[in-house]
Amino acid sequence: MRESSLVVVANRLPIDDSVAPDGACEWRRTPGGLVSALHPLLRHTPATWVGWAGGTGPAPDLPDVDGVRMRSVPLTGDDLRDHYEGFANATLWPIYHDAVEQPEHHRRWWDAYQRVNQRFAEATAQVAEAGAVVWVQDYHLQLVPGLLRDLRPDLRIGFFLHVPFPPPELFMQLPRRAELLRGMLGADLVGFQRAQAAHNFAQLVTKVLGLPATDRRIAVDDDRIVRIGAFPVSIDSAEMSALAARADVVERARRLRHDLGGPDQVILSVDRMDYTKGIEQRLKAYSELLEGGHVKVRDTVLVQVAVPSRERVGQYQILRDRVEREVGRINGEFGRVGEPAIHYLTQPFDRAELAALYRVADVMAVTPLRDGMNLVAKEYVAARVDDDGALLLSEFAGAAAELPQAYLVNPHDLEGLKQGLLAALRAEPADVRARMRAMREQLREHDIHAWARSYLSALDQGGSLLTRLGG
Ligand code: ADP
Ligand code: F6P
Repeated sequence: MRESSLVVVANRLPIDDSVAPDGACEWRRTPGGLVSALHPLLRHTPATWVGWAGGTGPAPDLPDVDGVRMRSVPLTGDDLRDHYEGFANATLWPIYHDAVEQPEHHRRWWDAYQRVNQRFAEATAQVAEAGAVVWVQDYHLQLVPGLLRDLRPDLRIGFFLHVPFPPPELFMQLPRRAELLRGMLGADLVGFQRAQAAHNFAQLVTKVLGLPATDRRIAVDDDRIVRIGAFPVSIDSAEMSALAARADVVERARRLRHDLGGPDQVILSVDRMDYTKGIEQRLKAYSELLEGGHVKVRDTVLVQVAVPSRERVGQYQILRDRVEREVGRINGEFGRVGEPAIHYLTQPFDRAELAALYRVADVMAVTPLRDGMNLVAKEYVAARVDDDGALLLSEFAGAAAELPQAYLVNPHDLEGLKQGLLAALRAEPADVRARMRAMREQLREHDIHAWARSYLSALDQGGSLLTRLGG
């Protein structure tokens, strides 16, 4: 296997599950923030991406994609159940998102987490050239930095957590909390979305491992210094703006409004079907606004895109059932023939269709109960090249710290959510435009390239990686 000087390690590979018969294979923009963030960065970089290709069984041999080498890591059915669906998404995910659903603990899941992390570390060690920079992503792989350092002490290792890192009271519930922290400390730089997360991590490292830590530096046992910090992830805003300005996308947006019955106002939400996204709370708020006569079906429509996610995890199945029942109830109660109150779509869309949806949305409702960042909010802002459109944004999304001009709401407060939605719907056009302009300016400066530059230059201190990447 050829070796690379930059290796990205993430649970998923960014490519389609099915490789075409001619061996061709395309970047898959799976619904998910991590691929969206890294896709524009690596597309033209001679790097290797280590990850799972989807499915179970032997790891497929995959062709390079846009110059990036794909190194697939095999998962068995048991690994998938106990590592991805179990420890990653039914233990860590709820704990890291304020325990809005009950986290589950099973010793078998922890065994699988260790086993799969070891496999990822070994695969990475095989493809990294001497002294390479390795960038490990997200909560599925928290042990990889430590395991990799044992295998390859010559590497410069970064770890970035895309999801929130919880306050000590919650993290302390984890039976294997010390091992998880030690795993992350195998990195030279541990990056988070927000400064509060770095603070939580520093506190825990002192409390659980007894190591001296500030919110910037941690001294570990082998005399190494691990640096920590906040690096809020972003999107390729220029790419999204250019897409949204394309004539066919503008025409598609016009057509969509027509097909929606030409309402005065369109509210849009785009989420993975996840209990952290606040979909049920939003539907309840909308239903009560309809019931109170504050919004009328003919004048206003809600488009809810909710692409199914982690479909074998029980909590996700329950959520989908509840959301679909509620959408059915609201449409039955408030819709008319040919005029549903909610247009509910569960399909994955291509980027152009998403851009058209963003352009047609007078109000974009992004109201997660907790979210590391939320790139949908940033995509909406980037798509509004006309400076129009109101962003209704949860205070509990990482994006709120960077986009304070949004109409901010607390999604746990039903009355507040209703008032926020009405405020966004009824806002003065001049106010909407002033807010959107300010958000667009912020996003132009803090795009995905700025994020990667700031993270990689902090990781590769004094190294030549950025020059090689054209940064
Ligand atoms: P998360 O990482 O929790 O999924 P984010 O909002 O950060 O949440 O990222 C979601 C990404 O998935 C965005 O880039 C968004 O455009 C994409 N996405 C969401 N829904 C769809 C869909 N139905 N079709 C295609 N892409 C989608
Ligand atoms: O943002 C958190 C995250 O787990 C990402 O790693 C991933 O892109 C996204 O959610 C989608 O999740 P999954 O890979 O489980 O489909």
